[in-house]
Amino acid sequence: MSDLPILIVGGAGKTGSRVNERLLARGIVTRLVSRSTPIAFDWTRPQTWNNALEGASKAYVAYQPDIGVDGAPEAIMEFGRVAREKGLERLVLLSGRGEPNAQAAEVALQTSGLDWTIVRASWFNQNFSEGYLVESVLAGEVALPVGAVPEPFVDVDDVADVVAAALTDERHANKIYEVTGPRALTFADAVAEIAGFTGRPIRYTRITHEGFIDGMRKAGLPDDHVALLDELFRVVLDGRNANATNDIEKVLERPARDFSGYARAAAATGVWGA
Ligand SMILES: NC(=O)c1ccc[n+]([C@@H]2O[C@H](COP(=O)([O-])OP(=O)(O)OC[C@H]3O[C@@H](n4cnc5c(N)ncnc54)[C@H](OP(=O)(O)O)[C@@H]3O)[C@@H](O)[C@H]2O)c1
Repeated sequence: MSDLPILIVGGAGKTGSRVNERLLARGIVTRLVSRSTPIAFDWTRPQTWNNALEGASKAYVAYQPDIGVDGAPEAIMEFGRVAREKGLERLVLLSGRGEPNAQAAEVALQTSGLDWTIVRASWFNQNFSEGYLVESVLAGEVALPVGAVPEPFVDVDDVADVVAAALTDERHANKIYEVTGPRALTFADAVAEIAGFTGRPIRYTRITHEGFIDGMRKAGLPDDHVALLDELFRVVLDGRNANATNDIEKVLERPARDFSGYARAAAATGVWGA
């Protein structure tokens, strides 16, 4: 294993921080970057990319604000070009299932000339405890513009395990892994499970897209973020991603973590109130 650092773009985030823990546990040197790190990295400022890539052997990329947004494919293409110039060997990209821009970003990476691994994830369990849904759970109502569409929520700890494997084992070069949890739940099912483990009443309400947009604006989210979230619910949650895969089991040789285990453990941390 090389002594050169593995770059983690989005190092303080849900996946990046976990990937970092796993690499450090294996004695691998890492370099975490985002806008607020000593070596600053900003997707909107390509002049920051060179320093971050300097001397790195491989990279894990969690694109911001979302791999599904317009401009993501172009940014990944340009980042891949700079990374190749800098001598990077392999790039592991976190992608999203069923999103046209995400799939275009994957193609940009695949044609970059770098070795690559694509980890295409379903919705994270941790959106309920570390992401934008935590406030709603705490408030006792999760209101989203989606009905009884099954989604095989994936645990971010499994995503990080797959990414760490991809960064450290040559067998994962030039592969696409579609990572999901072992079973599909509707958002109402997921919220009911969380309520069960917290012992508090938390209800799920299906709302209109207009109501969703209005609520997020009132909560102070910037317009571009509101539009992005609404787009994700419109485009991705139409049932196209309802099937669970066994890619986590194939890579890690153990079953994927189930939503119930996640909800029980997260409830025990007190993140959703006592
Ligand atoms: N959530 C899901 O269900 C899901 C499912 C599939 C795929 N994904 C993909 O997962 C990725 C997000 O990964 P994550 O959840 O691990 O990350 P995250 O927790 O959302 O955040 C990662 C970090 O990104 C940094 N950041 C924000 N804007 C940035 C910018 N302009 N330039 C550089 N860094 C920036 C932030 O740190 P600073 O403030 O220090 O910059 C933040 O700590 C997205 O590409 C999304 O499409 C998400």
